[in-house]
Amino acid sequence: MYRIAVIPGDGIGTEVVPEGVRCLLAAADAFGFSLDLVEFDFASAAYWEKHGTMLPSDWQPTLEPFDAIFFGAVGWPSVVPDHVSLWGSLLQFRRVFDQYVNLRPCRLLPGVRSPLADRSPGEIDFVVVRENTEGEYSSIGGRIFEGTDRETVLQETVMTRHGVDRVLRFAFEYASRRDARHLTSATKSNGISITMPYWDERVAAMAADYPSVETDKYHIDALAANFVLHPERFDVVVASNLFGDILSDLGPACTGTLGIAPSANINPERRFPSLFEPVHGSAPDIAGQGIANPIGQIWCGAMMLEHLGEEAAAAAVLGAIESALSEERDALTPDLGGTGTTRSLGAAIAGRLAD
Ligand code: NAI
Ligand code: MG
Repeated sequence: MYRIAVIPGDGIGTEVVPEGVRCLLAAADAFGFSLDLVEFDFASAAYWEKHGTMLPSDWQPTLEPFDAIFFGAVGWPSVVPDHVSLWGSLLQFRRVFDQYVNLRPCRLLPGVRSPLADRSPGEIDFVVVRENTEGEYSSIGGRIFEGTDRETVLQETVMTRHGVDRVLRFAFEYASRRDARHLTSATKSNGISITMPYWDERVAAMAADYPSVETDKYHIDALAANFVLHPERFDVVVASNLFGDILSDLGPACTGTLGIAPSANINPERRFPSLFEPVHGSAPDIAGQGIANPIGQIWCGAMMLEHLGEEAAAAAVLGAIESALSEERDALTPDLGGTGTTRSLGAAIAGRLAD
């Protein structure tokens, strides 16, 4: 029995989460485990309108006992400014629950048109592992002599051995469990001459512990170009916070629509629940129409099952997504060129899990 906190949030979050749940329940049924799903209405504009905050004050003890958080999307800019909704909810979860790994699979699925020419399913299948807590995104710095011609601004990059090693260990562990067992490190040690050589040093030290994993490194500029030119070269790509931020948008962009991309914010030690959410937001422009693509959310469910140790069920969910994409063209949502709905696609995928 796994205890899952379900937080739909705003906009299409409330439309795709039920389809994600439908597929999770179908997988649980097919693979003989059970899920205790508890839904929460906070982290939404509706909650904010009622209470003036995004979260209840006891959100931490409320969520902490759960095995995972299944999250939709938060943000409704006509009601709450985006920085308030994001900092008041999602970013709190990531920080307080020390979700220091951000994981984003990039995989070209059948029936999805890649913006890269002549690529077919199977050719692009890699995962970006982004450091999620330190690096370039520090608040150390400041501004002096404001408004004068001596105006000076400074923001420091912070890399700690603790912070670097723990994300690298996760990435190497992850790579060692995949078929290709190949890890690429994103660096820029030719230009950023203190922190990036340190990053490289820690990668080399960690690589010594994982002789079965083949390791290479690319400078971030060349790496970005290679994501587009030679995406087949990559298996697991590990990067600092800033480089990972960019790569984790570029990677999924190479594999098609935003509607299918999943992500996970992970606390690998499992001291706290990890959070699984699609890459897309609440999509106010299509919310309420029932046409949002639920695959990103459903794929998040597969990532969550994998994290919970239900690997076979996770693989089955991904398999069901792939077969629905290639064989149930009528059920597909408009962003995939179909005439189906959020529900028809969710039902098609869940139906394949039941078979
Ligand atoms: P968005 O991802 O919500 O939408 C961007 C475009 O992609 C829109 O045209 C939308 O219709 C389309 N799209 C997104 N998901 C789709 C799906 N599943 N199926 C079909 N089409 C889809 O990004 P946007 O518009 O910049 O942000 C809207 C709100 O969402 C804002 O409040 C923003 O802060 C929030 N947001 C929240 C995120 C989160 O909860 N992690 C992530 C990104 C944005
Ligand atoms: Mg980003």
